[in-house]
Amino acid sequence: MKKASVYVTRMIPQENIDELQKHFDVDVNPEDRALTKPELKQKAKGRDAIISLLTDTIDDELLDAAGPQCRIVANYAVGINNFDVAAATKRGVILTNTPGVLDDATATHTFALLLATARRLPEADKFVRDSKWKGWAPMFFIGMDVDRRTLGIAGMGRIGANVARKAKGFDMKIIYADIRRNPQAEKETGATLVDKETLLKESDFLTLHVPLMPETHHYIGEKELKLMKKTAVLINACRGPVVDEKALLKALQEKEIWAAGLDVFENEPEIVPGLTGLDNVVVVPHIASATTETRINMGKIAVNNVIKVLNGQPPDTCVNLEVLKK
Ligand code: GLV
Ligand code: GLV
Repeated sequence: MKKASVYVTRMIPQENIDELQKHFDVDVNPEDRALTKPELKQKAKGRDAIISLLTDTIDDELLDAAGPQCRIVANYAVGINNFDVAAATKRGVILTNTPGVLDDATATHTFALLLATARRLPEADKFVRDSKWKGWAPMFFIGMDVDRRTLGIAGMGRIGANVARKAKGFDMKIIYADIRRNPQAEKETGATLVDKETLLKESDFLTLHVPLMPETHHYIGEKELKLMKKTAVLINACRGPVVDEKALLKALQEKEIWAAGLDVFENEPEIVPGLTGLDNVVVVPHIASATTETRINMGKIAVNNVIKVLNGQPPDTCVNLEVLKK
């Protein structure tokens, strides 16, 4: 019997590819870059399954190009804003993501960014490398205290709650805003649910963990930044468009907030001109889940989902459960 055909849109850990190859005919994009839309459409043609990245838009056009035999698109990411869920659901194509396995890595990275921003580590590191250090000084690289300060969390889902647990080690006071209450996180961390305005006004550190959807686009804009403390630090390791990057640039230039730590950007890999010239911003290239083990575990979920679906079984994680009920 002819083996099913699987396309992987960019290299993921080799052991994930090896596992796939035990079951299917597998092709992997050999180039170390995201495919363009026309390339992706061409490569998707005739595939039974696709493993996609958060940089691949999976919509009507792509699914039409893939063809009616395509049963599953498994995202190698927890975020699903690159999926047009309705387009897949109406075709009966199962969509999956990788929740859970990257919570620790993402929350740890969020904290690394928070600490690096509060204590100005990249700036200080550069200072030493540039041979500018002339000896201990009482008044340089003065940063922000983290211990016992108020941490605001926008979006108390799996990752937000994980950040809250880590913040307990710093005795932080935790407040959060969400469309849903998270009683478990409240119990574990003493977090208090507040409205968005209170979150903005009271947070010393505000960290964003909402999914990107129309309701969260520019969740932080000019109005919100003005409500924040002048000493506040904004951390974003969810999705770039959750923050109006131009408004953030202005707020940082005008010292409306103290600093920002950013893992994600509105138009990756572009960054709004001027932002990287500022000292009060720490920028890293969308790497929150980038650890060896986490990336392998994300691959395992995607690969297992493909194996299960192509064998007629439900996947372990599913974004559009309606398809399974049909
Ligand atoms: C990373 O941004 C992910 O969504 O997994
Ligand atoms: C700092 O190094 C101190 O000893 O206070």
